[in-house]
Amino acid sequence: MLIKTWNNQEIDLPIEIANTGDPVALPALIDPHVHFRTPGAEQKENWITGTEAALAGGVTTVFDMPNNNPAVIDYQSIINKKQIINEQIKLTGKQLNYYLYLGATPNNYTEFAKCKNEIIGVKLFMGASTGDLLVEKLEDQENIFKTCAELDLVLAVHAESEEIIKANSSQFTANSLKTSGHSKIRSREAAVKAVTQALSLAKKYNTKLYICHVSTKEEIELITQAKSEGVTVYAEVAPHHLFLTENDYERLGTLGQMNPPLRTISDQIALWQAITNGIIDTIGTDHAPHTLEEKSKTYPNSPSGVPGIETLLPLLLNAYHEGKISLQKIVELTKFNIEKIFNLPPNNDWVIADLNLEKKVENKNLKTKCGWSPYSETKLKGWPIMTV
Ligand code: DOR
Ligand code: ZN
Ligand code: ZN
Repeated sequence: MLIKTWNNQEIDLPIEIANTGDPVALPALIDPHVHFRTPGAEQKENWITGTEAALAGGVTTVFDMPNNNPAVIDYQSIINKKQIINEQIKLTGKQLNYYLYLGATPNNYTEFAKCKNEIIGVKLFMGASTGDLLVEKLEDQENIFKTCAELDLVLAVHAESEEIIKANSSQFTANSLKTSGHSKIRSREAAVKAVTQALSLAKKYNTKLYICHVSTKEEIELITQAKSEGVTVYAEVAPHHLFLTENDYERLGTLGQMNPPLRTISDQIALWQAITNGIIDTIGTDHAPHTLEEKSKTYPNSPSGVPGIETLLPLLLNAYHEGKISLQKIVELTKFNIEKIFNLPPNNDWVIADLNLEKKVENKNLKTKCGWSPYSETKLKGWPIMTV
């Protein structure tokens, strides 16, 4: 049937939908940043539940991160991971396109060339997060930036300074800490220092640098400056930094704990501005499921990360209704820009959204194995109803 598209055209798709609501076809989303948990933590997520969650959210392509157990740091672990993923996706009877990141370690840059054709890019943790991937020393980071540039591989970075996080942590005793202390330990200075260092290395070696989950105003300023100097740098923002702030700790507790942490309202405003003026290139959900049991430990024993792949599109469509973002911008950030940055082959996947459908996020309706959302009970207008 003929369906209206996001840019006021019409497309003939091989589907029938009821003649109610306000259906609009958008290019299906690409989520360039997910942590499905295969191998090693499948109590949180696997590629059966992950595929169902992605498709329910209008996402038909994901890039999966390498901080698994064991971490994905060489050719063989990439091949093994793909085999398990393929088996699991097959069990769903559905299709999900996926690409994998290779994790950087202090000395595995000699493996990059061998892995090049199997991966979407290299992921570098400049500060420790979930898992054991960490490259702290400048000289090791130099090798990674240099090798990625030589091989024309995108280098995605989790940019938080380990040195600053450690120094901040030592100021607190564990039992004096509330969850909101997470934003003090993983301070804005930690992000700013790491982004400054990553930008200077990208400039030095001419690396294609992709900065994951930019969360502060100062990072935006640094990236704006670097872009104006011609550095090849791309900026990703995560939905939790667009739709939540430090004020949500009181309501969410450890369900609002992630790395980098929640920031202030003025940071949130700066991120939205950076979307409008084109400094932000992509939205990646950083879908990082942990079970409610794991999350119910008291801070700082609780793990960092929130699920997000199923709620991204409803949150963005709701923001569209609030006048914060256009449908064209949504499509650029969640599809077209990602295709360009990572040189993806085009696809003909669509998501049909009902722009008028209003409903609450409800944990019981979620497909993610972790079964919860930081947006639970939030009413949103505009929901995906089908992927094609
Ligand atoms: O909050 C986070 N969770 N940040 C990360 O960098 C990793 C992720 C995870 O894998 O749980
Ligand atoms: Zn990260
Ligand atoms: Zn992540």
